[in-house]
Amino acid sequence: MSADVRIGPDDIRRRKGGVPIVCLTAYTYPVARLLDDHVDLLLVGDSVAMVLHGHKTTLGASLEMMIAHGQAVMRGSAKACVVVDMPAGSYETSAAQALASARQVVDETGCQAVKLEGGTDIAEQIAAIVAAGIPVMGHIGLQPQSVEKDGGYKIKGRTEENVTALFRDAEAVEKAGAFSVVIEGTVETVAAELTRRLSIPTIGIGASADCDGQILVIDDMVGLTVDRVPKFVKEYAALRGVVSDAAARYAAEVRSRAFPGPDHVFPATSGKDKA
Ligand code: KIV
Repeated sequence: MSADVRIGPDDIRRRKGGVPIVCLTAYTYPVARLLDDHVDLLLVGDSVAMVLHGHKTTLGASLEMMIAHGQAVMRGSAKACVVVDMPAGSYETSAAQALASARQVVDETGCQAVKLEGGTDIAEQIAAIVAAGIPVMGHIGLQPQSVEKDGGYKIKGRTEENVTALFRDAEAVEKAGAFSVVIEGTVETVAAELTRRLSIPTIGIGASADCDGQILVIDDMVGLTVDRVPKFVKEYAALRGVVSDAAARYAAEVRSRAFPGPDHVFPATSGKDKA
């Protein structure tokens, strides 16, 4: 695990319109180690609350949770730009609250940037964080932190009114100084048009292949998600079966006393024990 310099938010910003930016979520040290060589950006998403902690929505994430996982991902990576999500409740009230939370996340994790969900409603917060020297990634379109308010996971950009609101949000996030923006769960043509309109890179998830980069939740991508897998996910591996098959074989061998075998125990006669 070595890299001369980490990819920074400015490097990501310069990739607008270039080779697509490869992003994945990561929440733990070993997974960050495995992904670091392959991606440009690792997002410590608040999806961690659902994926690793079993909450029903991302509203289960806390600042402490994000910081603990942010620290693990920083320890496990050397090359990728690491962005940590600001959880619901840590930034919406005021620019001062947002800045204090962002400072805590950056000071305690050493991450390169933070991500906030919202558009015109949080432009002031983004501007305050950026003005303090902390790079911000935006997140528009379907916003999982608003799922209760929206009455479910609703695809955005299906009505003229909604498309206008999306364009306004995108413009507000860009104007506030974000270095890139995630577009989630948005009609393909609208996401493509947003990508054309914005001067900062767009990172799509359930959006468009025309976006400047793509992101997926790591557990979805490797087929480890045990609950609902969204339509926009492509599973590049089938780890559910691998893990459950390994557990079944282990259980059978423990019950039959086939495990531990001679290779996994320490004979009384050996002088050199090595665990
Ligand atoms: O929390 C998360 O994982 C995210 C990505 C889906 C973009 O915000």
